[in-house]
Amino acid sequence: MAEIGQDITHARQVLQSGGLVAIPTETVYGLAGNALDDEVVSKIFSAKNRPSFDPLIVHVSNIEQAKNFVEEVPVQAQTLASKNWPGPLTLLLKRKSNIPDLVTAGLDTVAIRVPAHELTQRLLSTLDFPLAAPSANPFGYVSPTTAEHVNQQLGDKLDYILDGGACTVGIESTIMSFEADAPRVLRLGGLSLEEIESVVGPVEVNIHSSSKPDAPGMLKSHYAPNTEIVLVEDFLQKGKNSTSRIGALAFNKYIEGIDPKNQFLLSKSGDLDEAARRLFTGLRTLDQRKDIDTIVTAYVPNQGLGRAINDRIKRATAKE
Ligand code: TXA
Ligand code: MG
Repeated sequence: MAEIGQDITHARQVLQSGGLVAIPTETVYGLAGNALDDEVVSKIFSAKNRPSFDPLIVHVSNIEQAKNFVEEVPVQAQTLASKNWPGPLTLLLKRKSNIPDLVTAGLDTVAIRVPAHELTQRLLSTLDFPLAAPSANPFGYVSPTTAEHVNQQLGDKLDYILDGGACTVGIESTIMSFEADAPRVLRLGGLSLEEIESVVGPVEVNIHSSSKPDAPGMLKSHYAPNTEIVLVEDFLQKGKNSTSRIGALAFNKYIEGIDPKNQFLLSKSGDLDEAARRLFTGLRTLDQRKDIDTIVTAYVPNQGLGRAINDRIKRATAKE
């Protein structure tokens, strides 16, 4: 288990001496280290057990700092950044050579984001290097939205956990690319498509979900708990009728035929932002229940953050 606290000075010292610190952001907790130090970046990959072909997001304190690491910022990227940074938006931009190959898995773009969390903002502004940080979960598992989640799974691999409370968005950032000046969403996340389109007009959504993606990190089976998880329609089709060891992750109403005590409701009032905030906690809570062997789940309304929630549900229930 790692030391947990709110000591930014200590976090800074650990990072300056090449250590790993879990940092709070508005989306999920990140497993952070000096993005410009190859040795530290390798440690991040091995702590997560993450394949080296899956590149990392580089966190900076503002758009000016971002410009030290990218060749150019296309107009629409600039517009989106001015409106939404700090916030749950990651931009893929042409990288400068000061970003190590290891961080980008050899790609010529780097993923950059300015997180909106007071502690992490303060930390970033006192560092003279950016922070590479993937979500602080073992590769393929559900992302952490509290310091406790991080400690349970990666505590022994970290030097410090900066505790910033529960994440307020609760789902990873939206990732966008701007190849040939066309804005595209590559990962649905904490900034909704509606908000993006209100700024730059219609954008293409190009979500990879295969078992061998060209765009790394978009693996089909991902965000998965250890307990078997199935969509309600598949569950009903299989004709399972024993309700005893079944749990459910449902939107705003209990799924019929399953004991309500075994169900986690994402938002009783049907609020998609609240559902996003509670999604990963819900998955973890059900996963930890010893008396549940199968989690049944269902899609939520496909709008606002519902799109990102549905993407995670789709990946969690993907076979493979
Ligand atoms: O909200 C978030 O984005 C959180 C917090 C900690 O900032 N971070 C996060 O990182 O979700 P991670 O590593 O779990 O997911 C980053 C995703 C991966 O799917 C990776 O493949 C993709 O970003 N990615 C990173 N750099 C890329 C690049 N240059 N081109 C394409 N995809 C990239
Ligand atoms: Mg992740």
